[in-house]
This record gives sequence, structure tokens and C-alpha cells, in this order.
Amino acid sequence: MKNARLGDLVASRIGLGAMTMAGTYTTGGPLDDTESVRAIHRALDLGVTHIDTAEVYGPFHSEEVVGRAVKGRRDKVQIATKFGLVQHHGNGHSFGTDSSPANIRAAVEGSLRRLDTDYIDLYYQHRVDPDTPIEETAGAVAELIAEGKVRHFGLSEAAPATIRRAHAVHPVAALQTEYSLWTRDVEDEILPLLRELGIGLVPYSPLGHGLLTGQIRSVDDFGDDDWRRTNPRFTGDNFHRNLAIVDEVTAIGAENGATPAQTALAWLLTRGDDIAPIPGTRRIARVEENTSAEGIQLTADQLHRLDSLQPAAGERHDEANMATIDR
Ligand SMILES: NC(=O)c1ccc[n+]([C@@H]2O[C@H](COP(=O)([O-])OP(=O)(O)OC[C@H]3O[C@@H](n4cnc5c(N)ncnc54)[C@H](OP(=O)(O)O)[C@@H]3O)[C@@H](O)[C@H]2O)c1
Repeated sequence: MKNARLGDLVASRIGLGAMTMAGTYTTGGPLDDTESVRAIHRALDLGVTHIDTAEVYGPFHSEEVVGRAVKGRRDKVQIATKFGLVQHHGNGHSFGTDSSPANIRAAVEGSLRRLDTDYIDLYYQHRVDPDTPIEETAGAVAELIAEGKVRHFGLSEAAPATIRRAHAVHPVAALQTEYSLWTRDVEDEILPLLRELGIGLVPYSPLGHGLLTGQIRSVDDFGDDDWRRTNPRFTGDNFHRNLAIVDEVTAIGAENGATPAQTALAWLLTRGDDIAPIPGTRRIARVEENTSAEGIQLTADQLHRLDSLQPAAGERHDEANMATIDR
């Protein structure tokens, strides 16, 4: 597997997102940690070195699974995790943004323990905290880097001005945001800024929360508590309009003997070697399918047709979630 460059961090250009190992999307039966661990092992065997998690996934459960999986293989993996959506109070916690230095200090100790490691390769602020100046957050992460607990600093869903301010305190290695065939707004302002500053881009939900895989044809495919049931892109007319995008991706993929998931990932890989998508799955067969997207060659005509797809209908998150995104 070739590598991508995220600031000073070198990571496999296709990574693995570990969010569904703790739920969130509830299609396909109950969680199975043993299967999740095996999926991570398969990814590592296939050359994936970049595993993405967060303390809020579960909460905490995804980090525990990743910690179990990397035991004995720690030096082969770059672990990325995130703070700032769990508020720590002594032995308890609640949910909400908090990127104060004290909360980051509490968060990092829990993440290190669950991940069973003494350093985190890439430590992201999960959402910008309107109550803590980004300089304070960046300063706190810089201290953790100086202490050796963290190696690289990342931001998620940060606006251009915030990225500049954080980067002025400590170099940001990577920005994480949604980027895929159906979510391309990052190309207007953020991607040029990242390139100006030498920051890598880690596209989350590169398979459109699963829709771009072609495996979801109806909201009835979702469990009752599936997060996507209330996502604007999966509801009402938007869902049907978005299926038309998937059909187009499926047709283009078929010309190469590729699945729609592989086609969506292969397209992302053409966007630059500073881009490292993290498709999420907890299943071995899907890890194999997604990582082999690296070998798919798209023709100029196919690229043109993929570039010309309609953007998705509907906002990428519901109103409450959109409100947490720094703009
Ligand atoms: N920074 C942030 O705010 C943020 C937000 C969202 C996500 N993330 C990160 O990004 C990662 C990926 O995002 P995501 O999980 O939202 O979306 P995604 O990667 O676009 O899609 C994941 C969904 O697609 C399914 N899937 C994966 N590969 C498949 C395949 N080949 N065929 C059929 N279905 C397939 C998965 O199901 P199974 O798991 O059941 O296989 C899961 O339901 C997450 O794991 C997380 O680490 C970050």
C-alpha cells in the first residue's frame, strides 16, 4: 500500500475507521468485538497503517477494541483518536464540546489507557469548542507532544480561520472532514488552505455513510436506532435522489469490474497524495474490498463522469449536528 503524507506524518493512503465497531450505524446485526479485532488485523496485514477512532465512539468502546487489536503490533500502526466531545468530571462524564486544557489532560489519559499504548500518533480536536480559544487547545496538545504522549496534532470540522490560528501555535498535521463523491464543498476553500499550510486531509465518511457502496436501497435497511434514519440525506425525497448518484457510480465501477465502494475510494485517491480516506467497517470482507480500491485505475472519461456527478441532496448532518461544525 502506498502512503499519504499528512504534514510530517506518513500513513497508508487508505486507512480504517473504527466508529462502527462501537455502533452508530446499526445495520447488519449486533456488535461483535472479536470480528472487529479480526477486521483490524486483516487491514494491518493488507498494509493499512492508519486506524481512526475517538473517545466518543461508544463512548470509549471503539478505542478499547482498537487497543485490543494493536496489541503486539503497535509499531506497525498509526493510531488516530479524538478528544473534545466528552466532558470529563472526576470519574464521570457527560457529552458536549470541551477542548479546555484540563479536559484534554483528562481525555488523553483515558485514551492512552484504553488504547493500551503510551503515545497517540495523531490526536484530533473532534469539534471546535466555542468556549475555548483554539490557541489554548493547540497549546495543550503541543505540551502533550513535548511530553511524548502525542506525536501529531489534528483538527476536525474546523473553519479556515481556526485552522490558521491553530497552525500558528503548533503545526497541524491533518484536518478531518467529510469528503467524497457526494460531499465536495471542502474543495472550494479548505483544501487550497491545507495545501498552502502543508496540512493533510483525512476524508471521513468517504463511502457516504455507506450509501455509496450500493448496499443500501431503503431506509428499512437501517436498524431502529441507526443514526442515518434522521440524516437529511437518507430521508424523504433526498434519499431517492441520492440513490441515483449511487446508480451512476455503480455503472462506472462495473466498467472496471469494481464495486461502487472501490470506485468511490479510487476517485478520492486521485485527488492527491496528501489525502488519506478512512472508510469505516467492522467486517473483514469489506476491509479487503475497500483496501483493494488502491489497484483500480479510472480512465480520463470515467474521472470526468465522476467529477460531473450531482452533489448529494440534503445537508450532510441534521440541524443539531450542523450547529457543532465551525464555519
Ligand atoms: N471527524 C468526524 O467528525 C467523523 C465523523 C464521522 C466519521 N468519522 C470517521 O470516519 C470513519 C468512516 O466514516 P463513516 O463510518 O461515517 O462512513 P463511511 O466510511 O462512508 O461508511 C461506513 C458504512 O459503510 C459500511 N461499509 C463499509 N464498507 C463497505 C463495503 N465495502 N460494502 C458495503 N458497506 C460497507 C459500513 O458498515 P459495516 O461497519 O457494518 O461494515 C458502515 O455502515 C469512521 O469510522 C470514523 O472513524 C469521523
